[in-house]
Amino acid sequence: MVKGLEGIIAAETQISLVDGTKGHLVYRGQWAKDLAVRHTFEESAYLLWHGALPTPLQLAEFKNELARGRRLTPELRSLLEAIPPHTPLMNTLQAAVTALAGNAPAWPPALEQAVQLTALLPTLIAYRRHQLSGTPLSEGADTEEDHAAYYLHLLSGHPASEAQVRALNAYMVLAMEHGLNASTFAARVVASTESDLYSAVGAAIGAMKGPLHGGAPSGVIRLLDSIGTADRAEPVLRAMLERGERLMGFGHRVYKTRDPRAEALREVCAGLAGGDPWLDLARDTEETAIRLLAEYKPGRALYTNVEFYAAAVMRAAAMPTELFTPTFTAARIVGWTTHVLEQAQHNRIYRPQSLYTGNMPASDA
Ligand code: ACO
Repeated sequence: MVKGLEGIIAAETQISLVDGTKGHLVYRGQWAKDLAVRHTFEESAYLLWHGALPTPLQLAEFKNELARGRRLTPELRSLLEAIPPHTPLMNTLQAAVTALAGNAPAWPPALEQAVQLTALLPTLIAYRRHQLSGTPLSEGADTEEDHAAYYLHLLSGHPASEAQVRALNAYMVLAMEHGLNASTFAARVVASTESDLYSAVGAAIGAMKGPLHGGAPSGVIRLLDSIGTADRAEPVLRAMLERGERLMGFGHRVYKTRDPRAEALREVCAGLAGGDPWLDLARDTEETAIRLLAEYKPGRALYTNVEFYAAAVMRAAAMPTELFTPTFTAARIVGWTTHVLEQAQHNRIYRPQSLYTGNMPASDA
């Protein structure tokens, strides 16, 4: 039995390579870190779905398709109004996404469905946020804007700065896909039953919500807020490790070296910083944490993961903390749907076995 399925190869894929030893992340033959700084969310999503970057004409058509998918239907608005306000946003997204299954053919999943969901998620998140805070959803946001810009515009009601858009774009590209992580695996398992793409994405959202997966970046903010100033990093982190607590934003099942996404985001942050004290605190905390993790967990190779600098990028983009995991979701949906489409091409239902360690009946069978 392999706890947590560590090291088990459960699917063949042409979508991405995650090399934890070398610290490499490749999307369909391209370095993810290069895509994050040189290409938009749209171009990178197109690459994952189609296997090649778009030509200018293909990109224009694709952006039109995304723009068309951004509007909420009256039915979806009614559904969002009916969900109790205290329902966590991730569960609200799950409900909205699975409700879209409607009469759509369940199998095989279609690329248009993937594009529709990806286009809609930022609108869903922003709509719900404005609904709960009683503020109007910005009607000024232009559905023709680039994905990251449109999302920020919808949230704040005014166009974001170029630096904020660049930061969020880089994060969303780097968070878009990451091999057979827990949420992607959940999506592939559901798809393998020949269920519909909406149900597969709903399952993935449920997995993403957990603090060991997509819930980590808000934990990073809490960690840094509790540290406050660089001189307190060592005592606060040491006390946490003494209590056996985990440091959010550190450690990864696959990466046993620095997470390339964290490296790339750190560079994006450096370009943004302009002397932001919070960012300086993040850098100091990172150094101290890696040193203390080596002391308390020798031989475990614990480094910063993507969520550590994701928190910094989100702050730079003025993203409210409670939207960190939903924003991760709005990016990772591209990876989930690409995997669901790939699963459908050579499907076999996932059906591992468990090892029974309970009692046996007293009498023979
Ligand atoms: N802080 C302190 N100790 C840690 C941490 C951490 N962040 N991560 C792992 N460890 C320790 C564990 O306590 C364990 O020690 P032990 O063997 O003495 O008991 C050892 O390292 C191995 O840990 P596992 O739980 O077996 O590692 P696993 O591969 O199962 O977990 C995970 C990976 C969940 C990411 C883990 O490192 C963690 O909890 N990190 C903090 C949460 C986090 O940042 N999550 C975001 C991950 S990135 C993403 O999902 C996009």
